Amino acid sequence: MFLVKLGGSVITDKARYRVFNKDRVARLCSEIAESGKDVIVVHGAGSFGHVLAKRHSLQDGYSDPEQIPAAARVQQDVRELSLMVVSELLDAGIPAVSVPPGSCFVMEGGRLVVGEGEALRSLRKTGIMPVLFGDVVMDREKGFGICSGDQAMEALAEMFSPEKVIFVSDIDGLYSSDPKVDPDAEFYPLVTEDILKEVSTDQSVADVTGGVAGKMRSMLKICGKGRDCMLIDGTVPGNLLSALKGEEVKCTIARI
Ligand code: IPE
Repeated sequence: MFLVKLGGSVITDKARYRVFNKDRVARLCSEIAESGKDVIVVHGAGSFGHVLAKRHSLQDGYSDPEQIPAAARVQQDVRELSLMVVSELLDAGIPAVSVPPGSCFVMEGGRLVVGEGEALRSLRKTGIMPVLFGDVVMDREKGFGICSGDQAMEALAEMFSPEKVIFVSDIDGLYSSDPKVDPDAEFYPLVTEDILKEVSTDQSVADVTGGVAGKMRSMLKICGKGRDCMLIDGTVPGNLLSALKGEEVKCTIARI
């Protein structure tokens, strides 16, 4: 089984509130269908989640009643996004259903608690792809918090032991600094804990869940013996299909 996260930066315009990139998502879904592989898709929230979450500090948990309408609004926005992603999967011929983490699970101290995951296992057994995504999730300690799609990836990797894990982003891997502003940025084909310490983590757009460095941390948690965990650029047509087929693609691979 292959676990694929479609990052918010590829499926939305991260700088513009609630702008969905329908054509790109349709293309990525066809690449998944064409690969013929058994895949579970997770997706990020992009501008359907980060913009309001940051404005109302939802990632820090409940502290003020004025956050409540925003917590509800973000849940609504990311569900709408998820239904659009799932529509594209269905149109590509992949039976899929949106499973909102905020409705199905809780968190404890910022960590997602999935438990037995009976519904997820059962969906898969039936041949339906459960699609999780970055969401506002109730937290036993903090009232609520943000569960990133990366965290959902970690939970699913534990549950289903995928042979390969692919993070699809709008960048082809990890750099020492932002390559869009620094021409001398160094590219890392391989990431380890030590490399991650050297990397600058400046954020140019609203992001409440840690950007590329946060993603690399998740990748390091997920990767293991015999399991490749890679970050690829999904804005390049064919990249996801090649990665799923095991062909060479420019990327950063996480290794412990
Ligand atoms: C963020 O999820 C969730 C919310 C802000 C509600 P992700 O962290 O997985 O989203 P992207 O991929 O960075 O957009």
